[in-house]
Parts: sequence; C-alpha cells; structure tokens
Amino acid sequence: MIGQDALKRRAAEAAVAEVEDGMVLGLGSGSTAELALHALAVRVAAGLRVSGVPTSARTAGLARQLGVPLADFAAHTRLDLAIDGADEVEPVSLALIKGRGGALLREKIVAAASRRMLVVVDESKLVHRLGRGAIPVEIVAFGWQATFARLEAAGMHPVLRRATDGAPFLTDGGNHIADCSPGQIDDAAALDRRLRDVIGVVETGLFLGLAWRVIVASAKDVGWLGP
Ligand code: 5RP
Repeated sequence: MIGQDALKRRAAEAAVAEVEDGMVLGLGSGSTAELALHALAVRVAAGLRVSGVPTSARTAGLARQLGVPLADFAAHTRLDLAIDGADEVEPVSLALIKGRGGALLREKIVAAASRRMLVVVDESKLVHRLGRGAIPVEIVAFGWQATFARLEAAGMHPVLRRATDGAPFLTDGGNHIADCSPGQIDDAAALDRRLRDVIGVVETGLFLGLAWRVIVASAKDVGWLGP
C-alpha cells in the first residue's frame, strides 16, 4: 500500500518535470510544495536555470537551504509558473481551498501573478463540492475581535486559529486566520464576495479561476485535471 507522502512526492515530481529553463516560478507552501522544491533543487543542481518567488518565509528558508535561487516582485511582476499544493480541489471547475498551512495571502498573490498555476495534490484532496473542511480567512490583527464578530453575524461560524502556545496564529504578513464553516457551499464565488465584504478580511482561502492544471497522484497513477 503506497503512503500519502509517496503520492505527494509523485505529484510534486510530475509538476517539476514541467519546469523549463529560464522560468521564474512561484514556490508554494505546504508539504507537497516542499517536495516539489526538493525535486526542483535536484534539477537546479544538474544545471537548470530558474528562480522562484517564495510564498512563505518557511519556503524561502528551504529554498536557500537547497540552493534554489530566489526572486522577488521588484524584479518580476509576472511569473511563468506557480507550483503549489491545495487543501481541497473541485475537479470540474478546479476551484480550490487553500491556506490550512497559513500562507494563503502570499499564495494567492503569487498565483494571481503567474501565467499558470500548477497544483499538486494526492487524491485525498479531491472533493465533490468545496467545503469538506473549513475555509481559512486571513483577517487583520488590529481589531480582530470585531472582524470575528462580523464573521459570526454573517453566519460564517469562524474559529480563530491558534499557535501551539495558544496565542492567535500569526501569518507571515502579521495577520490572524479565522477558519470559517458557513455550511454547504452552493456558490463559491458569492461566498467569496460575502467574505471579502467583511471589513477586516484581507483574503480568503477560496482560489477560484486561478488553477490552470491540477496534478493528482493516486495509488494507480499520476494524472491531471485541466488542459
Ligand atoms: C498552505 C497551503 C497548502 O498548499 C495546503 O495546506 C496543502 O498542504 P499539504 O501539501 O501539506 O497538504 O495552502 O497555506
């Protein structure tokens, strides 16, 4: 029986096989994206010339450690290809939920700046309809209690994410995360708009219309959704 980590590695390696010399990449966050970074480092060591904008401080640190050159938006406002994981994938629309690792804001900025967003998942991430788990919503730390109350009033059933020491979780941008469970999601775009309308919300973990292709590893094979 092949384990989940091995499946993630397969998806990650298949994604990195699509990277071409000279590309400026978006480097995702999370365990699958990190496996992709390891696979990329092998190709860089073999002579591939690429650089990548990291979506988290953790990814930046790992890239440095592995010898993958970093880039930033000061030099590149358009990226060629972002490679990132996801928490949930809706297979027809390629709508995603991201951010359970806490990096959703930077991940969305990088995905939106990329010509193509290549998502890497194992089959456990595929859902019939988004919302199997909570939607991470990044909120400004200032006045978070008031934002939280507005999310509650809007029926989003937020739960403030906490770090292991019990303090509110802090994102790389210095914000907090409210994990929201609004019930069955019939219209993800409308829900996204409702969440964004709440003052104090910075960004949502609903990634709609951003994924170009999703590489899915199952015990049987590695396939993809999208073009
Ligand atoms: C981090 C993310 C990750 O991509 C997502 O949580 C998937 O992580 P993993 O590959 O570890 O399952 O959105 O903010």
